[in-house]
Amino acid sequence: MIRLEGVEKYYGSTPVLKGVNLFVERGEFISVMGSSGSGKSTLLNLIGGMDLPDRGSIAVNGKDLSSFSDDQLTAYRRQKVGFIFQFFNLLPNITVFENVRMPLLLNDITDSSRVLRYLERVGIADKAGRFPRELSGGEQQRVAIARALVHAPEVILADEPTGSLDTKNSGEVMDLLGALAAEEGKTVVLVTHEDYIARYSRKMVRIRDGVILP
Ligand SMILES: Nc1ncnc2c1ncn2[C@@H]1O[C@H](COP(=O)(O)OP(=O)(O)OP(=O)(O)O)[C@@H](O)[C@H]1O
Ligand SMILES: [Mg+2]
Repeated sequence: MIRLEGVEKYYGSTPVLKGVNLFVERGEFISVMGSSGSGKSTLLNLIGGMDLPDRGSIAVNGKDLSSFSDDQLTAYRRQKVGFIFQFFNLLPNITVFENVRMPLLLNDITDSSRVLRYLERVGIADKAGRFPRELSGGEQQRVAIARALVHAPEVILADEPTGSLDTKNSGEVMDLLGALAAEEGKTVVLVTHEDYIARYSRKMVRIRDGVILP
């Protein structure tokens, strides 16, 4: 499903990823553990097509992202990927419902019944009309999970999704993410610096100084 081979990424002359090899099977939930600055977010951004590697290749479904035109890369990001972030990244001036509908609008999907279905699945359908600031952190991350799944992407990329939650909410969010990913057969790559979060996934790899440890 996702194959990285010899991926290198530089910021200026500083290498951040130094030859990353990683294979993630379809439907697999993998976590990448590493300390701050080890290159985790850089890695996820490359898999999500937000940026391209300087060397090496990233193939998703057998297609090399570097071979895509700008339009193809935009379509890939919109349709195939769902992102979950540490600070939720909900749009503050629109409601919960409208936040979750956003990926549908971007993909010209008119069936907004999916919005309520996912809000129900993450347990906050009753808060659909609220604004993000009127929700707790755990609730906001549930909204973000609904938003990441609503357009039926194949890949979920989660960058420290519990990084701003307490232990109880972290556990709940991880349980929910794991259950939804399993139900829908999603391929999930989650990055974290916390061992106990990584243990929610079946498979765990470590990244240090820009390489995945064997
Ligand atoms: N846009 C950028 N320009 C220059 N340097 C960058 C940029 N983004 C990241 N870096 C540097 O690349 C290295 C890896 O950053 P990255 O954000 O991938 O680490 P991380 O593992 O996600 O860290 P954290 O756990 O703190 O989120 C760091 O040294 C960082 O300072
Ligand atoms: Mg990061």
